[in-house]
Amino acid sequence: MWYKDAVSKNSDFYISTDYAFQDESSVYLFTNENIAGYIQGLNPGRVLTVASSGDHAFEAYLAGATHVDTFDINSYQRHVLELKTHMIRGLPYHDFMDFFFDKKNFFNPKIIATISDNFSKGLRHFMTKCQDSGTNMFKYHASISPNYDLRNLSYASEESKYNKLRELLPERINFHHCKLERVSAKFNQRYDLIMLSNIFYYMYSEETITECRFERFYHEVLYPLARNNLTDNGKICFQYIWGAKPGDWTNFMDYFQSQRIKNESVKFASRTVLSALRDTNWDSVLIMSRQPQK
Ligand SMILES: C[S@@+](CC[C@H](N)C(=O)[O-])C[C@H]1O[C@@H](n2cnc3c(N)ncnc32)[C@H](O)[C@@H]1O
Repeated sequence: MWYKDAVSKNSDFYISTDYAFQDESSVYLFTNENIAGYIQGLNPGRVLTVASSGDHAFEAYLAGATHVDTFDINSYQRHVLELKTHMIRGLPYHDFMDFFFDKKNFFNPKIIATISDNFSKGLRHFMTKCQDSGTNMFKYHASISPNYDLRNLSYASEESKYNKLRELLPERINFHHCKLERVSAKFNQRYDLIMLSNIFYYMYSEETITECRFERFYHEVLYPLARNNLTDNGKICFQYIWGAKPGDWTNFMDYFQSQRIKNESVKFASRTVLSALRDTNWDSVLIMSRQPQK
């Protein structure tokens, strides 16, 4: 596919390798997960997801979601979500791909000239900042990095999916600027699917023991979300793991199921998908669901 060459040539171009997740830090432009792979069969319906590049929301719509709400600790991701939504709804596939993947056209204002009248004030300000600050604004390790295989990003790798997404996307996707720890309190609705990407990996770094970290995450994030924000058959995809073989996490999940939370009505599972990394076969996503009350 033509854009693979573009991605490799651009590898030196995206220079921010900053991993700090905070407000107004560099942004993800594309996912580095195989979202299309793990969302299959999860019956998205109503979805709550981290915004990140917008790709969790977009893949959810392509998989049949009826409504998507988003949140992120980095308010700049709101602008990426808005920009890509305007572009997918208003521009042909090749313009979208050139804008992001063709080095000489990267963030070329001419490509978006016909749609920019619809941009919010915040997005206009963000675009100016991108022109002024250059590539420092973008995280290197998005799927734009040559390590990641764009075939997993369905609407970018197939024009027909891009066109289908255009039909499905609403004019605007809700975005709340808040950190994950506050999400359950902030959103007072129920969802069929909640997607937390790999945020857990970066939380509670002061705890060195994985079990302790997981226990805190369970009590401070997962359980409140399951109790307040999940439908009876709803699921939370709470950790994406690269390079995990099928079954790698089963014992860990079994341990928590049996030892720690046996009186609570939740269930854990892991799902394995084709890896989003070029040199690895499998990735996994950890999933928690509510057990319907008997
Ligand atoms: C953890 S990053 C990783 C990228 C991800 N694998 C993807 O495919 O998009 C995803 C998003 O989570 C956000 N994030 C990180 N920590 C967060 C937190 N504690 N609360 C809310 N959002 C957070 C980041 O700002 C970023 O936009």
